[in-house]
Order: sequence, then structure tokens, then C-alpha cells
Amino acid sequence: MQIPHPGSPPVPEWLGQRLLAAGGSVPFLDYMQWVLHDPDHGVYGSGRLVIGPRGDFATAPSLGAEFAQLLAPQVAQWLALLPADGPLALVETGPGEGQLAQQLAEALHAGWPELAGRTELVLVEPNAGMAQRQRQRLSACPLPVRWIDFAALARAPLRGVVLAHEVLDALAIERIERRDDHWCRQRVALRGDSLSLEAAEPLTGPLLDQLGGLGLLPLDGSRPEGWCTELHPGLEPWLAACAGALSEGWLLVIDYAHEACRYYAPQRSAGTLMAYRSQQASDNPLREPGLWDLTAHLCLESLQAAARAGGWQPLGGCRQGEALLALGLARRLHALQQEPASRLAELLQRRESLLRLVDPASLGNFRWLAFQRDSTSAGSAATPQAEPLFLSMPSP
Ligand SMILES: C[S@@+](CC[C@H](N)C(=O)[O-])C[C@H]1O[C@@H](n2cnc3c(N)ncnc32)[C@H](O)[C@@H]1O
Repeated sequence: MQIPHPGSPPVPEWLGQRLLAAGGSVPFLDYMQWVLHDPDHGVYGSGRLVIGPRGDFATAPSLGAEFAQLLAPQVAQWLALLPADGPLALVETGPGEGQLAQQLAEALHAGWPELAGRTELVLVEPNAGMAQRQRQRLSACPLPVRWIDFAALARAPLRGVVLAHEVLDALAIERIERRDDHWCRQRVALRGDSLSLEAAEPLTGPLLDQLGGLGLLPLDGSRPEGWCTELHPGLEPWLAACAGALSEGWLLVIDYAHEACRYYAPQRSAGTLMAYRSQQASDNPLREPGLWDLTAHLCLESLQAAARAGGWQPLGGCRQGEALLALGLARRLHALQQEPASRLAELLQRRESLLRLVDPASLGNFRWLAFQRDSTSAGSAATPQAEPLFLSMPSP
């Protein structure tokens, strides 16, 4: 069954050769892995992608330091709960341009010097092209910094906090489609001189069974022919590897996510997959492969299940707008009015950035989800419990 994607552009030579070598098609998962993370051709792997308001897309830390300054008390709350005499780690996964890492290090150094004095910044970035730019940005970081992978961290786990800001949406997904009364894997196929998305072999396996078993995705015929969505096979291994990096501590995931009832709603007939480049969005994942970022939302229930299985205890979550208000965003906005009018241009720009962070139509709708390392499975003493600051009521 072949579904040509309208407007598919010419196929780059490297991709055409790989598809031919693979017999003409590969699961969407492999295609997404290549176009994002291939060291030579992937948009992240090559370091081609630029994050920021003048780059391919903006993220919260790329709008200025306010986001990190608001997040810093949450990081400090968690670090302060760990043993008072030992070294601490702030681990950032997928640091992109390195802005959040740099800004958080500065905020901790300024506001919590004792904690900062015991904290190292640990960056987990699989893409060499991105890591190179992070090294440049962090060359004058006030905390010691190192780059490492989860496998190496598992040999000497740390105490601290892991941040995953807009990382899990970059993990390659499996795309599935309802076809002939089955859930079928979508493949990317080379047809003539263009690419097409095809519903191929029926898919079975633990992920689909789990979604069906939890009642998140109906496995019967209640979705029409051609209806498609995403599965996240990379999530649980990633969360388990991430848990292995800590003997004690917390994980904060900040990302696009929906509850399963919205994610798998009948009217969402093409999933959540989107492509971004040069501040443009597209729903064509085959467009200029290796030049566009591809991203898929998370399913909240699947994330919680994967986190539990991976060694994390969910502590709760909320939307970014609520989290930032709890961390003092309204006070910050108010304080801008007291600043001297001579700095009007800068103040207006800061005000706009703060409002963008909580705008319910965009960044304010991101989800913040906290997890505590299940220290019993790590064989260490129970870590103190405390309600995350970002889940508390905003102070008046
Ligand atoms: C959308 S960017 C987010 C960058 C940054 N966190 C921000 O919000 O500005 C995704 C980042 O995750 C990295 N990444 C992709 N897959 C990853 C993985 N499996 N583990 C850690 N980082 C990953 C990418 O190279 C990139 O740095």
C-alpha cells in the first residue's frame, strides 16, 4: 500500500543510497534517526540546526536568561536536599546551544554560592556538531563542566538533578497507521526519484500491547483506514539509561505532551509529528531530509509508565505557565515596572520574553514533569521527599 506524500522534494543522494542498500524502504523510526542524528547528514548530528529566535526555532532558554533564573530555585531546592558534604551534579541532557546550562550555572553561582561550589555541570549530548557549539558557549562557565554519555555515568553515578528540556521530543518515533484492520508500521520508501510514506507490515509488540492494555489506544477497528499516530520505543531505554546516571536525585522533563485521550483522539488523524526550519513549521516529515528538525509530542501516560519502568518515581506535573507562576514570574513582571524608563527597549524585550514563556498558545502549554530517582532500586538510602517548588501555589 503506497501513500505518496504530496510535494515530496528530490531525495538527497546519501539518503537514496541508504534506502537502496536497505532494500528500498526503512521504518519511519530509522529515517527519523538518520535525518536528525546522522553525524554527517542529520540536522542535529551535523550541528547544522541553530536554536534561537533567528535560527530554526526558538526554545524557552533561547529567549533570554529569565527562564533559567526562574528555574534555578527549583534546581537549588533539589540540590539542597542531598547530603550536605558531598559533590553534586547538574546534568543537562540535549543542551542544544548550551544557553540553559550557562544561564543556570550563572544563576546558581549568584544565588546559591555554597551549593554552586559543590556542583559540576554534566552535559549529555550525543551529537558532536551540537557539543562543539556548547563547548564554545560554556568556555567561561562559573561551574566545572564536562561532556559524557549515560553509559559512562552509569559506572560512577552522581547525586543531583537531571534536566531534559525539549529533548525527548527529538527521540526517533515509530509511526503507525490503521490499514486493512491492522496497526501497520509506516515505512519511508524510495519510489522513483521521490520519497513516500507507506503503511507496511502489521505491527505487534510490547509497546502497542501496553498502549492497548492501558486503554490509551483502541486496538480494535474504531480508528478509520489511514488514521495514524506515533509510538515512542526510545523513551523507556532513554529513561532507564538516564536513571543509571544518578544514585540519588531528580529528573525534570519539560516538553510538548498531551494526555492519551487527546494524543490518540479520533480527530487527531495524523499524529503530532511536525517539521521545523527557519521559523517555519511543516507537517511534511519528508521535506528536505536532514535540513528540518522533526519533533513529536509525548503521551503523558506513556511517559509516566516508561519512567516507572526505567527507575523513576513520578512526582507530578503541570503546564509551564503554572510552573513559572509558582516560581515567581508574576513578581518578575511586576518588578520590571519599577525599573528606570531609560532602559525602556530592554525592559520591553524582557517583558515580551516573560509573556512568551507563559503564553498558553505556545511555550506556556509545555508540560513540566518531575521524577525522583527510585533510590531503593539504586540500593541507596531513601532521598528526602519534598513537594517540588514549581508545583506549589503561586505566591501572591
Ligand atoms: C530541540 S533541541 C533542545 C535544546 C535545548 N535543550 C533547548 O531547549 O534549547 C534537542 C537537543 O537534544 C539533543 N539530543 C537529541 N537526541 C538526544 C539523546 N538521545 N540524548 C540526549 N540529547 C539528545 C540534540 O542534539 C539537541 O541538542
